[in-house]
Parts: sequence; structure tokens; C-alpha cells
Amino acid sequence: MPNCAANTSDSADPAADNRPIGVFDSGLGGLTVVAALRRRLPDEDILYLGDTARVPYGDKSADSIIRFARQDTGFLVGKGVKLVIAACNTVSAVALPELRRNRVGEPLLGVIDAGVRAVMGSGARRICVIGTRATVNSDAYRRALHALDRSLVVESIPCPLLVPLAEEGIVSGPLARAVFDLYLKPLRENPPEALLLGCTHYPLFIPALNKYFGGRVRIIDSAGACAEYAADYLQAHRLSAVAGKRPRYSCFVTDLPAEFQHQATRFLGSDPGRVEKIALE
Ligand code: DGL
Repeated sequence: MPNCAANTSDSADPAADNRPIGVFDSGLGGLTVVAALRRRLPDEDILYLGDTARVPYGDKSADSIIRFARQDTGFLVGKGVKLVIAACNTVSAVALPELRRNRVGEPLLGVIDAGVRAVMGSGARRICVIGTRATVNSDAYRRALHALDRSLVVESIPCPLLVPLAEEGIVSGPLARAVFDLYLKPLRENPPEALLLGCTHYPLFIPALNKYFGGRVRIIDSAGACAEYAADYLQAHRLSAVAGKRPRYSCFVTDLPAEFQHQATRFLGSDPGRVEKIALE
């Protein structure tokens, strides 16, 4: 797969912007957002940064998450991207307000805005958000939902074991089911109208979660919602690449590029292309 040599609006169409979209996450999980972006925006070049040296972010302090997110964003901005997407829910929950206040990486989109928009569009009134401890402790999803509608009933449940499970490729079967029971059993007995997957890794569990809830819960995936959000953003701001262009993809990681390459296909559904190791600190 060709690599994305960043920058330049080199299209013959003056209204098109062929610079890449930059996407970052703590590690592999953000590739679920890249997969959704590739489907929704097939002409766009994408640069992906996975901070594999410091993953997971979900059990780190807010100070550390903000510092890492600044560095991740700075790296992508340095590559000349036209838009930065924080694919990591933990970053979106904990660091985005601070990054935006300091105007780091404009324009900067996060998965939480996208997930909230998808929930509001679904019409669900009783919602459960699942995510890492840092995401749930931040209360960001509930606050964002209640800012739009105070009357929504919003519950949040941390499900930290789902991240290592997904990374081990265990996304169904008895072990996954035991972990669902550990966190979600009360919900199964009294299901919400919508379950918002507030973590990059959770889309891998969608078939097993559908089975677990017997199809009685509408599952909203923040990765898919983010791709929709990005598509609308590019169009509204006249930042879309020229139609029919052949897309170029590149991945950067802060550690273990071969391991990333090996595992990436599971999250992405296809080969990630070239993976390069870089240093952020
Ligand atoms: N990417 C993180 C998220 O979406 C999950 C993995 C981690 O804890 O770093 O919250």
C-alpha cells in the first residue's frame, strides 16, 4: 500500500484539499475509527499515530493523558494534516477541552462529540455508556448528553477488561461472556434503549454484545459515529479530497512496529500499510 507523504493540496480541483487526515490513539484501538473512516471517506489519505509505548491511557492520570495527547497532536500537525481526530475515547474525555482551550491542533475532532451526536439522533432516552475507567470517571459523555437534554437517563459503566481481551483477540465465547457478566449483567436484566460503546476497542465486541442482549439494545459505536462526523465536517468546511483519488495510508507507532503490524489487521479489517516507529519525547 502506498504511503502518505504528508501535506500539499496538489489537486487540479481548487475546491479540493488532498492533505491527509491525522488520527491518533493510545495504541491499536483507534484503527476501528480508521476502518470506519476508510469506508465512509474512501478518497481521503490517513496518517495514523498509535502511542504503543505508553498504551493504555485508560488507567493514567489526567495530567499524563493531557501531556500525551498534546504530543500526539503535535506530531500529526507537524506532518501537515488538515484535520486531527482523537480516536481515543479516553483522550476525548479527559484532554480535549484542555487542548481546545490552548488551540492545539485545530481543527480537532473527538469521538465523544461524535458519539453524543449519534445518541441524540437515535431518539434513545435511557442510555448506558461503557468505556475505560478514565473515560467513565471523567463523566464527559453524561455531561455532554445532559448539556443537550437534561431529561435523558444516562448511566456509565467502566469495563477495563474489555481492552486487553480485544487485544488478545478474544471478542466472543465463554471468556468474553464472563467479562460481560462481570460488568453488564444488571443491564442485561434491565436493558437501556441504547448502549454507547465509548472505547476504541469495543466495536470488536458488537456481534457478541448483540447476542448477549438478545438484540434488545441498540448499540451505538463511537467509531462509526466519528466517521460520519468527520465526513460532515470536511464537507461543511470545504476540506474534502478530490473525488476518485487513490487514498494513501501510513501508520506511525512509538514502539513495537512489527507487533502493531501483526495485530492491526484484526482492528482494521485490512492491511495497515507501512508502519514506522517514531519518538515523541
Ligand atoms: N483507546 C482507549 C479508549 O478509547 C482504550 C485503550 C487505552 O486505555 O488506552 O479509551
